[in-house]
Amino acid sequence: MVGVQVGPASSQVLNLEDSLAELELLAETAGIEVLATLTQNLEAINSRTFIGSGKVEELKLLAEELDVGVILFDEELTPRHQRELEEVLGKSVKIIDRSALILDIFSQHARTREGMLQVELAQLEYRLPRLTRAWTHLARQAGGAAGRTGSTGGVGLRGPGETQLEVDRREIKTRIVRLKDELEKVREHRLRHREHRRKTNVPVVALVGYTNAGKSTLLNTLTNADIYVADKLFATLDPTARQVELTSGQTIVLTDTVGFIQKLPTQLAAAFRATLEEIAEADLLIHVVDVSHPNAAQQKKTVLETLIDIGAGDIPVLTVYNKVDLLSGEELEAARANHENQALFISARNGTGLEALLDAVGRELLTAYTALDVLLPYDQGQLVSVFHEKGHVQSLEHTGKGILISGYIPKEIQAQFTPYLHRANKRN
Ligand code: GTP
Repeated sequence: MVGVQVGPASSQVLNLEDSLAELELLAETAGIEVLATLTQNLEAINSRTFIGSGKVEELKLLAEELDVGVILFDEELTPRHQRELEEVLGKSVKIIDRSALILDIFSQHARTREGMLQVELAQLEYRLPRLTRAWTHLARQAGGAAGRTGSTGGVGLRGPGETQLEVDRREIKTRIVRLKDELEKVREHRLRHREHRRKTNVPVVALVGYTNAGKSTLLNTLTNADIYVADKLFATLDPTARQVELTSGQTIVLTDTVGFIQKLPTQLAAAFRATLEEIAEADLLIHVVDVSHPNAAQQKKTVLETLIDIGAGDIPVLTVYNKVDLLSGEELEAARANHENQALFISARNGTGLEALLDAVGRELLTAYTALDVLLPYDQGQLVSVFHEKGHVQSLEHTGKGILISGYIPKEIQAQFTPYLHRANKRN
């Protein structure tokens, strides 16, 4: 692994040591064993080889001595860095940066059709500017992720005067267009599906959090659903939704989402629209924080910033501190003292605090919504639509006098329904 500290340490969100620790975990997740780490402090990144030329020599010697197959850079390399480094370090070693590694992990873990298409698209977009003869050659030999991009590995008919490299580029571009097309179709299908869910009017609560915080475990424990749980980064790549009954008896849909991480490749942030959209449309977010992690505070901050980035900044957030079973009594005391009074401490693994969590979810949903029974005259069709779109319809009946609807409506729009409150309304 190669990590660099550019400029003063204080200017970085994650210090070099923590960033490399995370890179090592990513490497393990991808099935790569880390043999050695090389670091360098730089005023500015070397435009040719990323690290200084002396460091490159040192890296070359070390790589030969340890007979490594892969050199991992903690930062994103430009296509030029990639080419220059390949030139110096030789073709027998694969040079991969953080983004390529994350893309590879994503490609191993994507399970739904949409997830797979998105990863392939992100990989091709990442690869296109980096395509060199040597690189395509290596990419073709590599299994897994590279193997997926079927058409780019094909023979490809060369047009008049085209080099193999040009053929490869052309094939990748064609494949990108096709993938985008296919993704659009899958996406439309998913939107229809979600529309259906909306019509059944169950509030949607999304689990968000840093990767490995315990979101899938929490979803499993709450629903006994058997969703893939692993002590690996990004075990969850596609939104997964389950129904959960709250202590109040109210039903919600709980969705699991991809874990957030520092320095997520830009292609991926865009690619994981599916998950991100699920988040932006939720009624409430449960932010799961691994309270036993030494960088918990930093991870929490990354998640909150990412939420703002994806346009989910105004959705109410319920923060839960997970993995309390890993804390000693004293550590738990200290953590409680450190956080706001009503903070929730849970263990998704052994179930501690989950009842309180479900209570809190119910309360949060109710503070934003109010229960209503209204009788809407037939000429108030637009209010019926508003109830459907913004609220949650529990029952709907066509009567002689109009449409009788019971359900929940966001408090900020309740006023327009006041003239039609149903007499039998005992719920408010
Ligand atoms: P991503 O899919 O990467 O976003 O991860 P995630 O947030 O869904 O985490 P996941 O549920 O896969 O859990 C990650 C690891 O933490 C697994 O090994 C879990 O068994 C473990 N874990 C989750 N909750 C708890 C907990 O309450 N206590 C302990 N000790 N371990 C937990």
